[in-house]
Amino acid sequence: MKNIYLDHGATTPVHPQVIEAMLPYWTDYYGNPSSGHAYGRAASFGLEEARRTIADLLRAQPTEIVFTGCGSESDNLAVRGAMWAARANGLGNHLITSCIEHEAVLETAVQLRDYFDFDLTILPVDEYGRVSPADVQAAIRPDTALITVMAANNEIGALQPIQEIGAMARDYGILFHTDAIQAAATTRWNMGEMPIDLLSIAPHKFYGPKGVGILYVRQGIELVSSLTGGGQEDGRRSGTVNVAFAIGAAKAFALAQSEMAERIAHYTTLRDRLIQGILTAIPPEDIVLTGHPVQRLPHHASFALRHLSGNDLLMHMDMAGISASSGSACKTGNPKPSPILEDIGLGAEWTTGGLRFTVGTQNTPEDIEYAINTLPDIVTKVGQISLSL
Ligand SMILES: Cc1ncc(COP(=O)(O)O)c(C=O)c1O
Repeated sequence: MKNIYLDHGATTPVHPQVIEAMLPYWTDYYGNPSSGHAYGRAASFGLEEARRTIADLLRAQPTEIVFTGCGSESDNLAVRGAMWAARANGLGNHLITSCIEHEAVLETAVQLRDYFDFDLTILPVDEYGRVSPADVQAAIRPDTALITVMAANNEIGALQPIQEIGAMARDYGILFHTDAIQAAATTRWNMGEMPIDLLSIAPHKFYGPKGVGILYVRQGIELVSSLTGGGQEDGRRSGTVNVAFAIGAAKAFALAQSEMAERIAHYTTLRDRLIQGILTAIPPEDIVLTGHPVQRLPHHASFALRHLSGNDLLMHMDMAGISASSGSACKTGNPKPSPILEDIGLGAEWTTGGLRFTVGTQNTPEDIEYAINTLPDIVTKVGQISLSL
């Protein structure tokens, strides 16, 4: 029985070197980093080393790195924290985002509008799922306090023009946040030069542990914390930091950044073959590549299949030993049309048929050939089931 994991956009296995780096922080250095004694100091030393490693990789300062509990929490802290601080400081009541954002950003923005009376502009995207910098510019108002646009979309892999949008935000004196949760490991960051004020990262997307997130917060930016208490993380995120996971986050990020060229070469070879093979194996009237053909994540291949249910496809692929996704991980099990596929202008015959493959370091060309060879029969079978209903 085959067992092929092609869902690295949802999460990844933890790298053996990451596990090795974390272990002593459960067994030996288990002190609370806030404690003043030897055990506390040992934990605090490890935590600050991890913070420094991440800061160096981002070309940032250690004080600009906040550890959170997951990617969603990083997004929540950035968006809600910046808007609450803006209101408290009289800096504006309006935020701009896009319809293509992950729910961690979009739902936070909608909550700010619906429960806290902020003004919200949600920008559209083009057929490739990309936000237009011109649309961002047109939406800017004198009271705009924050623009948040993701670096790359999880469901269709589209890279966003964050450099241009960030530069524009800076010209207008508006904060810019980007959710880089899908793109962090395959992008070279230089926060000293990039016009990004807040950057969200989730280590479980690049062979780190689940249960830890990273938020870069440019020096001098005030965030009002929604997790109040003991004032850890410089008052930005109270609660005892998960030291072992912070160590694992730093190790995973260091490996991702140092092995980036090899990983990207491996991913793109597999991804390009997957895209070409699938578009050849399925009749062109029944399938479209979603997202941009070139401006897309290196490990990401996504499609929409006509008149099919992505969930049925996933179920049959699972039975054939292939783990894939129909969109973002959280959407699996939800038979409703994908809002993202609607946003890029696909009609109702396509919007339930999303299919996402995200390759990883351990995948082989044989895995990809198996997926290409297996999919056509599954598409036929699922199509027949839909017709008979
Ligand atoms: C783009 C993006 N943002 C945010 C998240 C949420 O991250 P987490 O699941 O770590 O909370 C995800 C997870 O899939 C994502 O892909």
